[in-house]
Amino acid sequence: MTRAQVLEVVGDDRDEQTLVAAIDFSRLPRHVAVIMDGNGRWARSRHLPRLEGHRAGVESVRSVVETAARLGLQALTVYAFSTENWKRPTDEVSGLMGLLKLYIRRELKTLRANNIKFGVVGGLDGLPKDVRDELRRGIHETSKLSGLQFSLALNYSGRSELTDVARRLAIEARAGTIDPMDIDEKAIERRLFTAHLPEPDLLIRTSGELRVSNFLLWQIAYAEIWVTDVLWPDFRRRHLLQAIVDFQKRERRYGGITASAGKA
Ligand code: FPP
Repeated sequence: MTRAQVLEVVGDDRDEQTLVAAIDFSRLPRHVAVIMDGNGRWARSRHLPRLEGHRAGVESVRSVVETAARLGLQALTVYAFSTENWKRPTDEVSGLMGLLKLYIRRELKTLRANNIKFGVVGGLDGLPKDVRDELRRGIHETSKLSGLQFSLALNYSGRSELTDVARRLAIEARAGTIDPMDIDEKAIERRLFTAHLPEPDLLIRTSGELRVSNFLLWQIAYAEIWVTDVLWPDFRRRHLLQAIVDFQKRERRYGGITASAGKA
């Protein structure tokens, strides 16, 4: 990378420049998935309502999307609302829905200007109509773009995604349009919300929790997991850069053995 290209990614922050310089751009994770956690704790520690934590979290989303696009990642998926999140108090849920709408309204221009293709992973139909309409507009107006594929996981649950695939395959088998003997991993993958995306190489979780929380259960089979104690609203470009630097130090074996172990 030339100095100009590094600056293009990070500006003049010394620590971030060092991190970018440590990144091997020929081995970037193709798809980064993020479990954004800790908004509530961030707000509580400041004696603020929980929604303020989510609002601050939107800034982190902005920063991470911009960095992922500048680095040239293929895909970024962030877990913004799970099917379990409907159980939260009504004002928190409606506040989150309002933030989603506002995010698309405010960011669509920037997404387009940066060649970012926006998408939703999850049950779009289960969201309130005004939010759904805004999200559909975002999807439609960026559908021809070829840069970063940025997806919000919304009304998403890994188990229900897989249950839906099983049900659809059973219906197709009953109708005779698929032979049960042809049901293989590819047949399942083609029916997932993420069928158009590479599988995540790197899964980031903030706020120190060591759980996958029903997120992309099939897709993260071989993802490297990177956990930080940083609460989501404090997560910025340098944390994503650090995650990528650490990811590149890991040895990915996919159940095999290392090249050196094989030679023994
Ligand atoms: C987890 O923190 C976070 C969520 C359930 C929502 C994430 C949503 C955002 C970052 C804002 C919406 C995003 C966009 C793009 C508009 P938590 O509330 O579970 O935190 P806690 O574990 O500390 O209580």
